[in-house]
Amino acid sequence: MTPRTSGRQAKIRRVALSTGGGDAPGLNAVIRAATLAALNRGWEVVGIRDGYNGLFLPEQYPDGGLINLTRARVRGITHMGGTILGTTNRGNPLHYPMVDKQGRAYEKDRSNEVLRAFRREKIDALIAIGGDGSLAIAHAFAEKGLRVIGVPKTIDNDLEHTVVTFGFDTAVSFATECLDRLHSTAQAHKRIMVVEVMGRYAGWIALNSGISGSADAILIPEIPYELNKVAEKIAQRDRMGRTFSIVVVAEGAKPIGGEVSVLSKELGRADRLGGLGERVARDLQALTGKEARAVVLGHLLRGGSPTTFDRLVALRFGAAAVRALAEGQSNVMVALDPPIVRYVPLKKVAGRMKDVPLDCDTILTGRELGICFGD
Ligand code: F6P
Repeated sequence: MTPRTSGRQAKIRRVALSTGGGDAPGLNAVIRAATLAALNRGWEVVGIRDGYNGLFLPEQYPDGGLINLTRARVRGITHMGGTILGTTNRGNPLHYPMVDKQGRAYEKDRSNEVLRAFRREKIDALIAIGGDGSLAIAHAFAEKGLRVIGVPKTIDNDLEHTVVTFGFDTAVSFATECLDRLHSTAQAHKRIMVVEVMGRYAGWIALNSGISGSADAILIPEIPYELNKVAEKIAQRDRMGRTFSIVVVAEGAKPIGGEVSVLSKELGRADRLGGLGERVARDLQALTGKEARAVVLGHLLRGGSPTTFDRLVALRFGAAAVRALAEGQSNVMVALDPPIVRYVPLKKVAGRMKDVPLDCDTILTGRELGICFGD
């Protein structure tokens, strides 16, 4: 569907904002910029609590599932982590988890109920801030006639057609700081420190923090690894008198011919990844005879204040989303394409993933620095 133009559309009076999936530093900055840009156009702005739950499961919200977003409500939130709207990575309305009379679990498409709720609440347009899952939902709503603008969010940076997502810079900066701190304790104890970072099926966080934080080995999903190669690298360092090593593993990395480490599976939500750091530490200890410890950075990467870079991208995205609606666009995502923010059809993004290209210069840089990728 090509973006629609303003001439044929009814005036926007009320716009809704929703944040879905895992939180990322910068969400509140988007909310503030979009709210102010919309209020300045004379539109009313509401925030939907917890993804779309506040709208289509009103019984769960005795105080109301919608938050009236006023200037006062979005004051002083640019630097705050989390989201004032709340979020969820369960209960995708397109695949809503249900239980039948026999107690069997199944998934149901409840998107029409959500669309009815949008009409009931007289919401003319939606700004959906989320990752691949949330943008796929937004795309489905747009295809069914709702005016929708997507805003790409994820610390994982795994969304297509935007140079970067906000939240990523904050996550990488914090992971790098942790790697800096781990060097001294690794060196003092002559240990291997294995640091597991988030990222789902993409290695962006591991790669960028590992290179910036002087890791000796980096394992990412895009390069299935052979642990012997990492053990060889550690032994080589030992021979040179470098008796400690830092190994960064992306949670979604896997050995050649092996599987991704999944902690749990649940109907209606993405698999929970994790556990690889412990496994790699145990196996490297066995292979090298050196003491190894695993550190899981996990949700620490999603917390805290967004970096200046993430704040600015998030503020630009929020304002650009409202500008897109004012221009009559729909079914598009705002995307960073320096020096500009442009619009990309949601169908080009929904359900797609951007992984690390094997020939990118960041990987080449790592190789030239002597970092082992387990291949
Ligand atoms: O997509 C963001 C992310 O932080 C991933 O890196 C991670 O696998 C996932 O969310 C964890 O989500 P949660 O623990 O909140 O279910």
